[in-house]
Amino acid sequence: MNSRRDRWAELTGGQDGEAYARRFAQLAESGHDVHGEAAFCDALVTPGARILDAGCGTGRVAIRLAELGHRCTGVDVDRSMLAVARRETPTQEWIHADLAHLDGLGLEPGFDLALAAGNVVPLLAPGTEPAVVRQLAAVLRPGGLLVTGMGLDAEHLPLPEPTVTLPEFDHWCAEAGLTLRQRCATWSGEPYRPGGGYAVSVHARPTA
Ligand SMILES: C[S@@+](CC[C@H](N)C(=O)[O-])C[C@H]1O[C@@H](n2cnc3c(N)ncnc32)[C@H](O)[C@@H]1O
Repeated sequence: MNSRRDRWAELTGGQDGEAYARRFAQLAESGHDVHGEAAFCDALVTPGARILDAGCGTGRVAIRLAELGHRCTGVDVDRSMLAVARRETPTQEWIHADLAHLDGLGLEPGFDLALAAGNVVPLLAPGTEPAVVRQLAAVLRPGGLLVTGMGLDAEHLPLPEPTVTLPEFDHWCAEAGLTLRQRCATWSGEPYRPGGGYAVSVHARPTA
C-alpha cells in the first residue's frame, strides 16, 4: 500500500502505537494541555463539522474533536497507531490507507476541514508531499480548510533535520488550489515570525 516508505515508518518500524499513546497519556497526567490541536480546529468550524484527521495516528485529536461534537474520519497507514485508535473508540471511523492514495477510498468529498497534525507532512515518504497535499485539497468542500502543524528545525521534529520548508509547502498548496489564510507559531495561536521552528498553517479552498 505504501509504495515509498514514509519517514514515520522508517523511524519507528511501524511499532510505536502503544508507546506513542503512553507518551501522550503521561503528558496529560503531568498537566500538559494535549488538546491544543483540537481546540484550534474547533474554533475554525461550525458545530458538527465534517473533519478528516489525515495521519490520525492513535486518534488522539480526532477523538477529542468527536467529543466536541464533530464528525471525524481518521486515516493512517500505521496499523500499530490505528490499533490504539480503534480500541479507544471502536465506533469512530478509522481507515487504514496511504494519504497519497485517498482518491481510491471512495470517501465522500465535502470535508469542512482536513487536519495533518503532529508533523505528518514532514514525516511523509520523500517526494510524496505534493501528491498528499493535492489529495487533501480534493476532499475539501469549497471554502474548506487544510490545517497543518509542522516542525521546521530539528528541535521541533523527531528527525535529525527538517524535510520541508514553508515556501515549498505553500507552493504545493498553491498548486493544489489552496491559499494561505493564517499562520501561527503554536496551536494556541501565537503569531508566526519568520525563522520560527514550528508553524501551524491554515490554507483554504476557494469558495467559488
Ligand atoms: C507523529 S504521528 C502524528 C499522529 C497524530 N496526527 C497526532 O498528532 O498524534 C505521524 C503519523 O503520520 C502517519 N503517516 C505518515 N505518512 C503517512 C501516509 N502516507 N499516509 C497515512 N499516514 C501517514 C504516520 O503513520 C503517523 O501515524
